[in-house]
Amino acid sequence: MDMLMRPYAVPGAPGVITLTHGSGCVVVDDTGREYLDAVSGLWNVTLGLGHEEIIERMTRQLRSMAYGGLFDSGHTQASALAQRLIAACGQDMAHVYLSTTGTSAVEVALHVARLHFVAREQPHKRNVLSFDCGYHGCSLVNLSASRIVHHELSDRSVLSPHFESIPAPSDEAKSLQVLETKLVERGHEFSSLLVEPVPASGGVIVASRAYWAQVNELCRRHDVLVVADEVATGGGRCGAFLASPLVGLQPAIIALSKAVNSGYYPTGATLFTREVVAPIQRAKLPLDFGSTQDGNPVGCAAALAVLDIIEREGLCQRAVQLGGRIVEQLSALEAPVVRAVRGLGLMIAIDLQHRDLSRFSVNEAAEVRAACREEGLLVYHYEGGLNLFPALTMSDEQAELAVAILGDVLATLD
Ligand SMILES: Cc1ncc(COP(=O)(O)O)c(C=O)c1O
Repeated sequence: MDMLMRPYAVPGAPGVITLTHGSGCVVVDDTGREYLDAVSGLWNVTLGLGHEEIIERMTRQLRSMAYGGLFDSGHTQASALAQRLIAACGQDMAHVYLSTTGTSAVEVALHVARLHFVAREQPHKRNVLSFDCGYHGCSLVNLSASRIVHHELSDRSVLSPHFESIPAPSDEAKSLQVLETKLVERGHEFSSLLVEPVPASGGVIVASRAYWAQVNELCRRHDVLVVADEVATGGGRCGAFLASPLVGLQPAIIALSKAVNSGYYPTGATLFTREVVAPIQRAKLPLDFGSTQDGNPVGCAAALAVLDIIEREGLCQRAVQLGGRIVEQLSALEAPVVRAVRGLGLMIAIDLQHRDLSRFSVNEAAEVRAACREEGLLVYHYEGGLNLFPALTMSDEQAELAVAILGDVLATLD
């Protein structure tokens, strides 16, 4: 039994591997075995481990000021990061709240969406819509929107009745029809639609631009704020700093975290358009949340370094190139279990099927993931297949090795 309690695991259950160190896209366990990490940690270490420039800039910040809060003061690193994120995101974003995780970035989005309607004297507009395949974090609030983990909840009483779901855009017509019905019948109850531009945990669903255009239009017509959860997709992963403009989603609020800090320091960010924040300013409503480590200067220094590196090294472009090549190579694998391969940049899914064309269950997909790990390759799984979320800095040779290991593992399955 392990004293350490781990996320989404039975207390005391040990982890499958225990890591000691790593460099770039390679991690090493406590037996000295190396693994090629094709999921960049938890999809977040987009610049790889041991990046000297990030470490150096964080160290400099640690020496000059390890902590500076934002409660009744400010600090230059937070202001610089806010400005930098607004420039990187575009999309008419004008305000930034800095927090610590993807969960907090999304929760801040929901807080501010609610305040926006309170400020406009429409407090009844407080319900939130999300996809039935979505994951948006693990606080008690966010769990209500994270439909994909609802079946795992031992006590559903924590779920808020103010959260409702719409079908995933794997069936675009059905998804739009349910969204439209809810908004036509009860648009006055909804504050926001919380969506991943490319649902990641749901299996990398890349919906059409026509779908997102209708989503934008329905939300505009019914005065519902579009919240883009770009925690997994943002920061260059999909081939641009944000996935929203790539797919045609027009958000009023954007949540970021993983790739923005590349795993070096927990940092989240939520961006808002002027239209979202102006009514709150006019009503002189203070934000009714805040946490000690929000906007920690070391986290800001790490994120600023990450943004510099992504831009200087053209890593969004690299995600397009490498992602395209990996999808091409995976599609050419001679393995009948491969039903389909799709991706956007370096967010890639491999749907798996049996001989009778039935999809792999979540447990079967988890077994294939374990088989890859046995062969020294770390991948992720979802209900129906495997995910790759490689670092933007993965080399061509490492990507080829990952595809070769996958090819060997998949060739043994039926
Ligand atoms: C789309 C999305 N939103 C939010 C989160 C939560 O982020 P965190 O685990 O940093 O709290 C995740 C985590 O995987 C995610 O994929």
